[in-house]
Amino acid sequence: MTSTDQTPHVDADAELKPNPHATAEQVEAALKDTKLAQILYHDWEAETYDDKWSISYDQRCIDYARGRFDAIVPEEVQRELPYDRALELGCGTGFFLLNLIQAGVARRGSVTDLSPGMVKVATRNGQGLGLDIDGKVADAEGIPYEDNTFDLVVGHAVLHHIPDVEKSLREVVRILKPGGRFVFAGEPTSAGNVYARNLSTLTWHLSTSITKLPGLESWRRPQSELDESSRAAALEAVVDLHTFDPEDLERMATNAGAVEVATASEEFTAAMLGWPIRTFEASVPPGRLGWGWAKFAFNSWTTLSWVDANVWRRVVPKGWFYNVMVTGVKPS
Ligand SMILES: C[S@@+](CC[C@H](N)C(=O)[O-])C[C@H]1O[C@@H](n2cnc3c(N)ncnc32)[C@H](O)[C@@H]1O
Repeated sequence: MTSTDQTPHVDADAELKPNPHATAEQVEAALKDTKLAQILYHDWEAETYDDKWSISYDQRCIDYARGRFDAIVPEEVQRELPYDRALELGCGTGFFLLNLIQAGVARRGSVTDLSPGMVKVATRNGQGLGLDIDGKVADAEGIPYEDNTFDLVVGHAVLHHIPDVEKSLREVVRILKPGGRFVFAGEPTSAGNVYARNLSTLTWHLSTSITKLPGLESWRRPQSELDESSRAAALEAVVDLHTFDPEDLERMATNAGAVEVATASEEFTAAMLGWPIRTFEASVPPGRLGWGWAKFAFNSWTTLSWVDANVWRRVVPKGWFYNVMVTGVKPS
């Protein structure tokens, strides 16, 4: 695992105050305080996050979330579903848990995140879907729930934001009931992060330069929005703390007290396509690309995911895939 040392900072009143427009001074302060950076960065993107990442709560994303769960959880467990009470850490807008509940993985759940803006959107999304959920601002390194509370704890793309991942996994094991399971998916591998980041940076530069050319103005987002994006992007380096090799996650989960620990990885060429596509989408005015583009992007990604799972999986080492997931069980 690669990581950087950071000084924690959590605003106790944060629950009351999403802050979607960080000032330059706040960004400056956040450069030295990873948890403040997490709050500012994710509050900033909360209301537009679902659009940015093409997140939905229909069959497409229900199948995607369930696919991640089934890829790592043993079949005998899948036959016993649903779990009763589930918790999501770093829920963002609720993508993983809300879709897993809809997929029949759990009956009810709590969505939690360090960012008040995200908790607000996730709770609103869950209630809009008519699900039995509640929401709370929570730091994954000190989860504000009693021991032995949940049957299932899940997270998607959250572990790489947490300064002390092993401490957080110990917290997860503490709040799980004996025999309860955790599933964390969507974490970047160390190798995958290198190609994804480089391809994204190149795409952003190309797109924002080409759209300066005469005749292409309608493809360019207003400069104030691009500046705000750049300010927020400066925080990205501060909020993305780790990349993982699968063995790192196995070791940390085992050290945290879990048994039946396993990892799996996915997305190789699909990530090499997916990252430039998402970066390009973020660089042009919202809605400019239209439905045809969305269909092309999704179909291409699905095709390459199939090729990765059925062809590259046989020849490429596990750690070269972009996404790694980990599961484990609290001993009974
Ligand atoms: C990349 S987003 C993923 C959101 C969502 N799980 C998804 O997949 O769409 C990471 C989320 O983790 C949250 N986060 C970062 N550090 C955290 C911490 N220490 N405790 C809880 N949540 C945290 C962020 O606020 C953000 O919403």
